[in-house]
Amino acid sequence: ATANIGVVGLAVMGSNLARNLASREGNTVAVYNRSPERTTQLVEAHPEAGFVPAATIEDFAASLQRPRTAIIMVQAGAGTDAVIDQLCEAFEPGDIIVDGGNALYTDTIRREAAVRERGLHFVGAGISGGEEGALNGPSIMPGGPAESYETLGPILESIAARAPEDGSPCVTHVGTDGAGHFVKMVHNGIEYADMQLIAEAYDLLRRLGGLEPAQIADVFAEWNKGDLESYLIEITAEVLRHIDAETEKPIVDLIVDEAGMKGTGTWTVQTALSLGVPVSGIAEAVFARGVSGRTSQRQAVRETITAKPEAAPVSASFVEDVRQALYASKVIAYAQGFDLILAGAEEYNWAINPGAVAKIWRAGCIIRARFLNRIAEAYDRAPELDSLIADPYFAAEVAKGVDAWRRIVATAALSGVPAPVFGASLAYYDSLASDRLPAALVQGQRDFFGAHTYGRVDRAGKFHTDWSGDRREQQVSS
Ligand code: 6PG
Repeated sequence: ATANIGVVGLAVMGSNLARNLASREGNTVAVYNRSPERTTQLVEAHPEAGFVPAATIEDFAASLQRPRTAIIMVQAGAGTDAVIDQLCEAFEPGDIIVDGGNALYTDTIRREAAVRERGLHFVGAGISGGEEGALNGPSIMPGGPAESYETLGPILESIAARAPEDGSPCVTHVGTDGAGHFVKMVHNGIEYADMQLIAEAYDLLRRLGGLEPAQIADVFAEWNKGDLESYLIEITAEVLRHIDAETEKPIVDLIVDEAGMKGTGTWTVQTALSLGVPVSGIAEAVFARGVSGRTSQRQAVRETITAKPEAAPVSASFVEDVRQALYASKVIAYAQGFDLILAGAEEYNWAINPGAVAKIWRAGCIIRARFLNRIAEAYDRAPELDSLIADPYFAAEVAKGVDAWRRIVATAALSGVPAPVFGASLAYYDSLASDRLPAALVQGQRDFFGAHTYGRVDRAGKFHTDWSGDRREQQVSS
C-alpha cells in the first residue's frame, strides 16, 4: 500500500481534484474509475502526478494505507450509493469514505448512518469552485464524524483554497453527518440569488440606463474594486465584454434567455419551506430561472401585450443607485442563507459555527467575495446574532443604501422591468423592520373560519372570538 488518499470517479471534477491532491507535498494518490479507459487516460496525461492506478475496487483498496481514505467524485444520485456499497465491501472498519458530490443532505444523513453501522466513517463534503477550483483550490465543507477529520483534515487543508486575508485554508469540519452538504446546499442557494441579482442589475442598467454590454462590463469591473468585489461580479464583466467571433455581437445577446438548473437551489428552498425559514430572495431567484424556461407562456402573454409601460426617468445617480440596491439585496441573500444554516443546525443538532462558514467561503467557492470577511466579523462579535442585518455594521450598510434601493425597486416596477430578487429582498427587509405586520389580520381571519385562536398584545394566553355567534371572546388557554 503506497497511497495515502484515493479518488473514485475520474470525470473532470474527480480528475482535477486528484491532480490537485497529487501536486501537494506528501500525497500519493490512488485513482479508480468504473470504465478503466478513463483511469489510463488520466495517468498517461499526467505522469508528473505519480498516480497509483487501480483496475478494480479491490486493487484500489489494496493500494491505500490505513486508515484508507477515498473521495468519491461521481454524479450525485443512485450511482453514489453503488460506489459506497462497493467501497464498504472492499474497505475495513475505521476507513473513511468521503462523498465530494452535490448530494442532498438527507441522503448524506442516511448514508452516514448506514456506513457507521458497518464500522466505517462516512463524510459528506460539499466542494465548491467548479473545475478550476477542484484543480487549484476549492472551498471544502466536510461533515461527518469529527474524529475522521483528524485524518482527513490535513489532506483537505493541503488542497483547499487559501483566504487572501490571512492565508488560512478554506475548509473546516462543519458539523456531523449531513452538515457539510447542508451548508453546500445553502451556498448554492445564495449563489442563485447572487447571480440573479447581478442579472437584474445588468437588465436595469441596460433597459433603463441605456448602457451597452461593454459599458456595463466596465461598470461591473469598477464595482469589483469596492464592497461588491466578488468572483461572480468579475466573471459577469468578462461575459458581458465577450464578442461572438462569427457575428461580432455581444455573446449575451446570442445566448437563449432560459436559465437551467440542476437542483441545489430548489433543495435550498424546499428545505427552507419545511423548516419555516423565509428565504424569499433565494426562492425568487429559483423562480426567476423557472419563469425564464416557461417559453410558451412567455410567448402567449407577450402576444396579449398591446402597450408597454414607458421607462420611468432615471436619476443622474442611477448607476450608483443600482450598485447600492445590489449590495443591500446581496446582504439580504446572505442573511436569509445564514438564517437557514442556523435553523438546520438546530433541527439536526449540528454545532455549526456561522463565522467559520463565512471564513471558508472567502476563497475557492463560487460565491467568494470580499464582504464575507465582514460576515465572519459580525459572527465573531456576536455568535448568537439573530440576523445578519441586526449586526451593527450590516444594519448601517443597509440603512445607507435603503433610499437608493427603494428608488430602484420603484423605477423597475413603474417601467415594467422585472426585478424579483431586488423586490423580494426589500420586502423582507421592510417586513423585519416594521413595527406591526398585517399578520395580525391574517390571525383574525384564521380565527374566523377555523377557530385557530390568536394571542393578544395586552394579555397573555390564547383567545378565540365566537365569530359566527355572539362574537364574545373567550380565553382558550393560558
Ligand atoms: C459550485 C457550484 C457547483 C455547480 C452548481 C450549479 O459551488 O462549484 O455551485 O456546485 O456549478 O451545481 O448549479 P446549477 O446547475 O443548478 O446552476
